[in-house]
Amino acid sequence: MSDLKPLIETTGLVKKFGSFTALNGVSLKVYPGEVHALLGDNGAGKSTLIKILSGVFPPTEGQIHVEGQPVSFASPRNATDAGIGTVYQDLALNPLTSVTRNFFLGRELTRFNSPFGLLKMDEMHQIAIQEMAKIGINIADPEQAVGTMSGGQRQTLAIARAIYFGAKVLILDEPTSALGQKQQMEVLKTIRQVKDLGNIAIILITHNEIHARLIADRFTFLSLGEVIGEGTAKDLQGDDIKRLMAGGAEIGDLAKELAAT
Ligand SMILES: Nc1ncnc2c1ncn2[C@@H]1O[C@H](COP(=O)(O)OP(=O)(O)OP(=O)(O)O)[C@@H](O)[C@H]1O
Ligand SMILES: [Mg+2]
Repeated sequence: MSDLKPLIETTGLVKKFGSFTALNGVSLKVYPGEVHALLGDNGAGKSTLIKILSGVFPPTEGQIHVEGQPVSFASPRNATDAGIGTVYQDLALNPLTSVTRNFFLGRELTRFNSPFGLLKMDEMHQIAIQEMAKIGINIADPEQAVGTMSGGQRQTLAIARAIYFGAKVLILDEPTSALGQKQQMEVLKTIRQVKDLGNIAIILITHNEIHARLIADRFTFLSLGEVIGEGTAKDLQGDDIKRLMAGGAEIGDLAKELAAT
């Protein structure tokens, strides 16, 4: 992987909310074709980091590079245009409208190239079905309401949409946390298929150590706004992941803390 250039790189990101420092110098490199798990306890700064990467708010200090170019985002639209696609937990889908309408939401294909032109419905159906099939979900009826799809299928729809509209970096915020066991596996398979496309970088935020182990190539651990550990699946042995997820505390220390309360 050493000859590859990072698709996205952050250098010394700091984010202050008033006098509170939520991120304190976070540097991160994510490579094409890798699943990069971003792990850390509640309040570690994971969401703050992805909000900066997706243009929700600017960093107080630090830089972001996409494919070697410095970028600065004034809005989420800027981040999308730079190739950063974020799939939030609520997925921003409308359950009452069809798969296809959700897929194109606000970016419909029209004849006459005008927002008021006739919709190219057949073409849109075809693209939606095709793009979802590429990452492993076969939808029989693109007119099906999204509300009738499983949670796993909805994740796939949101992911396929982000990729179709140009995401080179796909950020997934806790994509499995609201799902049952079977659907969690469905989403992990989807992530694997996106990885197999080869050119997309995936940042996976999760609290689930097992999922991270199953699917991630590289791990970064945040605690109180700082990177406290990183490495590939091979580098991290035994209890390393557990310890780092617990904010770097030794399991023995945690046992003592628990005993003392
Ligand atoms: N808009 C804000 N204003 C003030 N403080 C904030 C703001 N957003 C986040 N914080 C604080 O920054 C810290 C990091 O929060 P963040 O949401 O990034 O954590 P997280 O790692 O995503 O946690 P979780 O696993 O619970 O989602 C927390 O202490 C939080 O209270
Ligand atoms: Mg969060």
